[in-house]
Amino acid sequence: MATTSSQPDIRLPGPGRPIVEVDGLDLRAVGPELAATLRRLAYEHQIVAVHGQDPEDVDAYLAFARALGTPEPYFQAHYHHPEHPEVFVSSNVPLDGKKVGVAGTGRMWHCDYSFFERPLAFTMIRPIVLPRAHRETLFIDMRRVLDELPDALRGRIEGRRCLHDAWDYYKVQPKDIDRAIRELIDEWHEAAPGAVHPAIVTHPATGQRNLFVSRGFTKRVVDLPEEESDALLEELFDFCEQERFVHHQPWAEGDILYWDNRSLIHHASTVPKGESSCSFRISLYDDLPFSRA
Ligand SMILES: [Fe+2]
Repeated sequence: MATTSSQPDIRLPGPGRPIVEVDGLDLRAVGPELAATLRRLAYEHQIVAVHGQDPEDVDAYLAFARALGTPEPYFQAHYHHPEHPEVFVSSNVPLDGKKVGVAGTGRMWHCDYSFFERPLAFTMIRPIVLPRAHRETLFIDMRRVLDELPDALRGRIEGRRCLHDAWDYYKVQPKDIDRAIRELIDEWHEAAPGAVHPAIVTHPATGQRNLFVSRGFTKRVVDLPEEESDALLEELFDFCEQERFVHHQPWAEGDILYWDNRSLIHHASTVPKGESSCSFRISLYDDLPFSRA
């Protein structure tokens, strides 16, 4: 019975431990109370690593995701796991001799789904095949960025709204052969038209504010002339991408990582040529608005 399973060991961030770490979690036995605790940990501390899980057990992974939130299948079906549409496959490893998912995803600073009206609440990732070389995800805490933003720069972005789109990141597929680039662009823009969000958002669970821009997807400060918008965004991107704000989170076998998508931006590391890498991502919504009004 789920109610009699032992409680996981949860360690909060502290000296030598930059993120929340969880051991002994039974992925199939996460009841509503524990799920609320696990969501709260991400809202407050941003990144949670669940250790010691079996990477082969996709059903348990999905059970955990469904306990934590509502999985959202990626809007482009060719990223989907062949049997589990909720699982987004980032991989350069064939499965049964066939290409599965998409290789080289997320290699720019971004927030998942910020180019839609409703960005994701959490992103969850588990490595399935780890390259021999180091693999990590990079994160920037946008709460801290806002706290440390110089007053003059903050004054220029406060109260503004920004357009986010993914127009530069369409990945060409086999079905695109012999089709006009104009047609592909039109189709892509229709599928992902972009969205406008406040430049500073307020987390609905914690009430904390953070800057909400990323070099990957934020394209324009609304109501500013193009040149002024470009210059302001460039300054903001350069400020937040300073190494002192960047947390490098290594991937380890058996880990599941999930994070607060509202207050972090992230960036995938690259895989060295000739090395294999595969990860399964699950995108999650919670039952809160993305930003408190
Ligand atoms: Fe991402």
